[in-house]
Amino acid sequence: MAGKQFPRGFLWGVATASYQIEGAVAEDGRGESIWDRFSHTPGKTWEGDTGDTACDHYHRYAEDVGLMERMGISAYRFSIAWPRIFPAGRGQPNRKGLDFYQRLLDRLEAARLRPFATLYHWDLPQALQDRGGWANRDTARWFADYAAYVMERLRGRVEAWITHNEPWVVAYLGHVTGEHAPGLRDLRTGVQVTHHLLLSHGLAVQAFRELGIPGKIGITLNIQLVHPATDREEDRRAAHLADGVFNRWFLEPVFKGAYPEDVWGLFRQLGVAPRVSDGDLAVIGRPVDFLGVNYYTRALVQYDPAATETFGVRILPGPGPKTAMGWEIYPQGLYEVLTGIHRVYGPRQIYITENGAAFPDRLEESGEAAARHTGQAGSLSGSRAGSASGFSADSPVVRDPERIEYLGRHFYQAWRAIQDGVPLAGYFVWSLLDNFEWAFGYSKRFGLIYVDYPTQRRIPKESASFYRRVAEENTIDDRFAGE
Ligand code: FCB
Repeated sequence: MAGKQFPRGFLWGVATASYQIEGAVAEDGRGESIWDRFSHTPGKTWEGDTGDTACDHYHRYAEDVGLMERMGISAYRFSIAWPRIFPAGRGQPNRKGLDFYQRLLDRLEAARLRPFATLYHWDLPQALQDRGGWANRDTARWFADYAAYVMERLRGRVEAWITHNEPWVVAYLGHVTGEHAPGLRDLRTGVQVTHHLLLSHGLAVQAFRELGIPGKIGITLNIQLVHPATDREEDRRAAHLADGVFNRWFLEPVFKGAYPEDVWGLFRQLGVAPRVSDGDLAVIGRPVDFLGVNYYTRALVQYDPAATETFGVRILPGPGPKTAMGWEIYPQGLYEVLTGIHRVYGPRQIYITENGAAFPDRLEESGEAAARHTGQAGSLSGSRAGSASGFSADSPVVRDPERIEYLGRHFYQAWRAIQDGVPLAGYFVWSLLDNFEWAFGYSKRFGLIYVDYPTQRRIPKESASFYRRVAEENTIDDRFAGE
């Protein structure tokens, strides 16, 4: 195969998050999270879907690790549900909650999968929301206490700790647009929340260093690539500002210990600048070992004076083909993001902690599929690999050529970035399994593995076989070179 080789030791992994896959929300002493409350509130999620059962991963984790093992990958990014560890958010820890992650880590170790653990992937204990949640500065301290407890208990078992997943999303979708839990709609609150999230990140990094926890620690940001819709000066200015609100607002404090002046100025003008205490920025700027980048798409930005709520910024979808989320497929943006961050912020290491795509996948009986395309080799689910995968010869199949194309082209751009000196050390595909896609419920399928929710049966898609080949060969085929 003519292809491009990744560096030796490059990690190929998959990512998930607790609330999206675990289910078992009332088991073994787990407390309520804001996503339980939100998803059970009428009208908040697609068809009222909740994470009550999700992929039942809490009970099926061993099978799920087995699927990763068969995929031949080397790392797994998962998140820890804070309300399993501290059902009330703080105070008395719940032994049984921690035990679940110990069992998961045992299974990962047996499968030689390297664990990357996210400490906060959006499931705040409801008890803390009742005290103001992330709008309350105390939550930053409670997060650091929870983080310290978990890191200490799992000391030496986790290769990399990720403090937060996508703080922009938590702050804005959770507190400004209300599309996510806790469903608030107030800009000032949202901006204050960004500061408390960042502060909590810095406090957790500090705890990690003080406790001498082995391994590394970093944060995952959703880097939203923005391009001006036209060359007009006002569109360029709007795009720069959008980049500030989405990206620089988080990157600069973490890597430079300061908020970007232009965005700060805008927030002050709007009367929503956050309250920041002396020393906060020094805490937030404590050096991290790596940056996690989640990349999915780009946005076009147009200046629109009527868009007062969004500072004159109007976001338009790009012109290219879209995924089922309506997100433009723009692989070269990954290259642009990686090289740009490397140039401006120079993190010691970068991981792509999420990248992937939703498409309207459907199950086909293998007979039906075989009649249409014979000779598909190396499938994880098809008859050839049937025995190896544990799926019988007549297992249904899921053909997802668009996902293969999406991933292949993004892998290629990651390879290009490495050629240009970006210290990219690994790549986590979102996601292992189809799962609870937040406000979209189960209507969007991101998995390499299809989940038949009524039976909880797992059926590897053809993209899982594709990914296995990429991981095994550590190579990306030249046919994905096109931008
Ligand atoms: C990211 C989230 C992840 C998943 C993907 C599609 O923003 O971190 O949980 O929902 O989007």
